[in-house]
Amino acid sequence: MLAAGPSPEARRFFHAPNGNITMARITIFDTTLRDGEQSPGSSMTAPEKLRLAHELASLGVDVLEAGFAASSPEDAESVRSISKEVQGPVITALARSVRSDIERAAEALEPAPRARIHVFIATSDIHLSQKLGISREECVAQAAEAVEIALGYTEDVEFSAEDAMRTELDFLTEVVRVAVEAGATTINIPDTVGYTLPREIEHTFRSLGERVPGLAGCVLSTHCHDDLGLAVANSLAAIEGGARQVECTINGIGERAGNASLEELVMALHVRGDGLGHETGIQTQRLYRTSRLLSYLTGIEPQPNKAIVGRNAFAHEAGIHQHGVLSDRRTYEIMTPELVGAPGTELILGKHSGRHGLEARYDSLGYKLSADQLKRVTRDFKALADRKKTVLDEDLISILHHGVMEDVPEVYRLTKLNVTCGGDISNASVEIKDEDESMIGEGAGDGPIAAAFAAIESVLGYRVVLERFIIRAATPGRDALGKVSIQALIDGRTFAGRGAHTDVVRASVDAYLHAVNKAAAVRTLDDTHLGADSDFRGI
Ligand code: KIV
Ligand code: ZN
Repeated sequence: MLAAGPSPEARRFFHAPNGNITMARITIFDTTLRDGEQSPGSSMTAPEKLRLAHELASLGVDVLEAGFAASSPEDAESVRSISKEVQGPVITALARSVRSDIERAAEALEPAPRARIHVFIATSDIHLSQKLGISREECVAQAAEAVEIALGYTEDVEFSAEDAMRTELDFLTEVVRVAVEAGATTINIPDTVGYTLPREIEHTFRSLGERVPGLAGCVLSTHCHDDLGLAVANSLAAIEGGARQVECTINGIGERAGNASLEELVMALHVRGDGLGHETGIQTQRLYRTSRLLSYLTGIEPQPNKAIVGRNAFAHEAGIHQHGVLSDRRTYEIMTPELVGAPGTELILGKHSGRHGLEARYDSLGYKLSADQLKRVTRDFKALADRKKTVLDEDLISILHHGVMEDVPEVYRLTKLNVTCGGDISNASVEIKDEDESMIGEGAGDGPIAAAFAAIESVLGYRVVLERFIIRAATPGRDALGKVSIQALIDGRTFAGRGAHTDVVRASVDAYLHAVNKAAAVRTLDDTHLGADSDFRGI
């Protein structure tokens, strides 16, 4: 028998003394490692899954779906290692409603301090006839049997009616009643194909609660997919209808358009606690780092405008917004970046930015501008922003001093580059010339590009922190031109560098030197101007 563990607070409703339903704790069931991992390109190795599982446990998820043990030996091994190593959440594994799947799940969950077996069977007519080839009666019988078999291993059994939201309500009610009577402790009603509307799902959940009295002793769960972009809205509507567990994934990854995003759900419940009246046990300050870890492990970034964790989630570009945020962040921010552990509010400079945003950016670069200077740079900035999507710090400095830095003198020039790679460590040597001398540098790194950058750093007196590094093939085919663009923090300012070459190491080195040459030009400008103009002191 596995150790079971549905938390008592996760029962379906809390009843106030007057019998009214009151504030409830919502159980967060994370399925990033099972449903999320089914998303194209998101597969992770077992050690990577374990690492993410530890992070999810620290985030405070209540239930962690570690995998689908019968799907492959690797998945089973991964469920087992998570069950053994990860403390805190209930660990669960998915199983079809067949004995062998349930046995695989039970074996893999064996080391877990608290284990749940999650059995499912499809219930919609289209799935029954076209996928399973069974009748409704057979479906009901298999559901009941699966729950009973799973109860032989643990008291904590979840039953899911796959494609529930396209299942006729009367039949869904019957399946749910049977699963409850068989002893399931959590009943999950998935919107498998992301088809439902908020008012429909709320109605279904409410109706099930009314029609199956035994459900009051279970946790009712929602599991929404995002095919119409409604997964989070539908999950919230299901909560309105009585759901007390939400199944979701970090960054909303999952089959096709993905699952309901954990961070969006949690923050909706948190920020709009006034309207929704529920709470979760999630450490919201860890949301951003969990999202970053997942992106790092899968190589898939959330889109920039993704709520809560996207690059632009806390960025303001429009001038009127920047003005507001600078005087009081609450004008345009409904939550602080700190609340989700994201880097601070970012004021992006683009053509919609205004004088206040510009002044604040110069201020953070160390320039205190007089009213006249601000007027002049605002005018030049607007002209530049019309031509350039994002204006960088280097452009601002250049505008301030003498116009736009479109190109820079090539103070440092690459004359030789050699790399050896293919082993554990790559090595590089470079010859760089400035106007006085020729310098030879050597470096080693994790790959040829890192080695070449280390070799340059060994001869030039610049500390370069790469903030972004993007490498793209400009054309198809083996002889494609590799285009590299970087953003590098040098002397406390951000410089962009670009390089293009059929040899991507060479393109990367060109981009790197391009940024360094810009920094060199700014050092020269600072030396000439800052000495003369006291307004620009204090960098
Ligand atoms: O979307 C779905 O129906 C599922 C079930 C297996 C829970 O992922
Ligand atoms: Zn799903």
